[in-house]
Amino acid sequence: MVAGPIHMAYILAALLFIIALAGLSKQETAKYGCLSGMVGMTIALLATFAQVGSATGFLLIVVAMCIGAGIGIFVARRVAMTQMPEMIACLHSFVGLAAVLVGYNSFLELGAIVPDTITVPLDASQATIVAMMDAAKQAAEAVTEHAAAMTPGEFNTHLVEIFLGIFIGAVTFTGSIIAYGKLNGTYKLRVFKSAPLMLPGGHWLNLAALVVSVLLLIWFMASPSVVPLVLMTLIAFAFGVHLVAAIGGADMPVVISMLNSYSGWAAAASGFMLSNDLLIVTGALVGSSGAILSYIMCKAMNRSFISVIAGGFGTEGGTAAADEEMGEYHELKANEVADLLKNSSSVIIAPGYGMAVSQAQNAVAQLTEKLKERGIEVRFAIHPVAGRLPGHMNVLLAEAKVPYDIVFEMDEINDDFENTDTVLVIGANDTVNPAALENPNSPIAGMPVLEVWKAHNVVIFKRSMNVGYAGVQNPLFFKDNSFMCFGDAKKTVEEIVANI
Ligand code: TAP
Repeated sequence: MVAGPIHMAYILAALLFIIALAGLSKQETAKYGCLSGMVGMTIALLATFAQVGSATGFLLIVVAMCIGAGIGIFVARRVAMTQMPEMIACLHSFVGLAAVLVGYNSFLELGAIVPDTITVPLDASQATIVAMMDAAKQAAEAVTEHAAAMTPGEFNTHLVEIFLGIFIGAVTFTGSIIAYGKLNGTYKLRVFKSAPLMLPGGHWLNLAALVVSVLLLIWFMASPSVVPLVLMTLIAFAFGVHLVAAIGGADMPVVISMLNSYSGWAAAASGFMLSNDLLIVTGALVGSSGAILSYIMCKAMNRSFISVIAGGFGTEGGTAAADEEMGEYHELKANEVADLLKNSSSVIIAPGYGMAVSQAQNAVAQLTEKLKERGIEVRFAIHPVAGRLPGHMNVLLAEAKVPYDIVFEMDEINDDFENTDTVLVIGANDTVNPAALENPNSPIAGMPVLEVWKAHNVVIFKRSMNVGYAGVQNPLFFKDNSFMCFGDAKKTVEEIVANI
């Protein structure tokens, strides 16, 4: 494909992207991971520039990049941490659209599909014969060197690349727009509503879209023309809308990571069409890391990937089984929690979605400092799907400058609860629900959870007895060693800090 220094630059950029992914997997190395990705991308861009043949082409790329970078910097500086998923969804839609455009461009570059022979009717006039021959000649000339140099096998493979690239790109494009709308709370259209859009026979519609697309691929291969391509693109646009509209707003993090994966495969397909090694490698990295992340999230939620994609779950604030009778609960006021903490020698904080909602992370960091000043050991226990984003809690705690060395993953800390005096559950619910382990009929049965109830005392910070994301009652709240501390988490923690 590309020789010499350009090829070397591509290999270097690909290596830096792999190092970036490895770095991003740990909080301590995430910064260097980002840096490595940025250097890799700069090298990739320079290598791309070096291949631009004409001054006009170069100028066009620079102008387009300046406009794109300007908008990107403006948006990235304004976006709040909580708006990150919707921004990512928006950016994925661009990758999808780019793959569609690259696909059409690759098809047009192939030129007209020239028949081996032309059939002239016996009664054709001389003028008609001349016109037909001229048309065939022009069509033959339109076949680019690129297409002409292909063997029939390569030509067919290229057609499949074009078809698949456009299909994946189109699904990613409209799916990402719907995901953006759902996360952004743009409720003007029904498809953007957080609740899943359940059309009658929805799954059959998806299946029909796939079957018709396969038939269109067969048509396209037998007689390459723009008609099956356009028909497939329209179907893929509708498929993307329906696929994501059918998924509840609360499942969007998995969908975003899935769309991330699709956008990677769309980019890889573009790489094949453009014969660009780096785009193939980068697309494959994005595609596979997105797929792995979706799998990890589903596993941590004890849900199958298919059940997420099939949709119909995750209407925020579900009440299923919420009224289940569990007995009495005990309550503590903020000043009483402060006394309990002063008499503890070890404390573990288990944060959840409620900490993000109330933006309590800075108050929690202050509380941590106060307790440490009194010689109390404080650690954090992070469930892999606490909150609504992968790494949601880690990001919030890092933002509040909580030291990394006291933040532990679930597997690292789960055995330590029994030797802990007090656990503070701050806005977490499903991730600390013992029903996951004790009740095989629970909707979250089998989901690994933080075993906070094993500590001597557990204090749960939330505003009411409402259920969490999964919509199931939590027996933790009714245990003898559990105490509810009602109110907005940020306000309550600030009151406790004031009382210590
Ligand atoms: P949840 O089970 O969602 O519970 C959050 C709790 O926070 C609620 O019970 C709510 O109770 C409380 N809360 C809300 N606002 C609050 C505020 N201002 N102050 C105090 N409390 C507040 O949270 P979790 O334990 O973090 O579990 C996460 C859930 O999301 C899991 O079911 C997981 O499967 C799901 N999920 C996670 C992800 C990722 S990647 N993290 C992706 C998709 C789904 P009140 O209303 O009574 O205050």
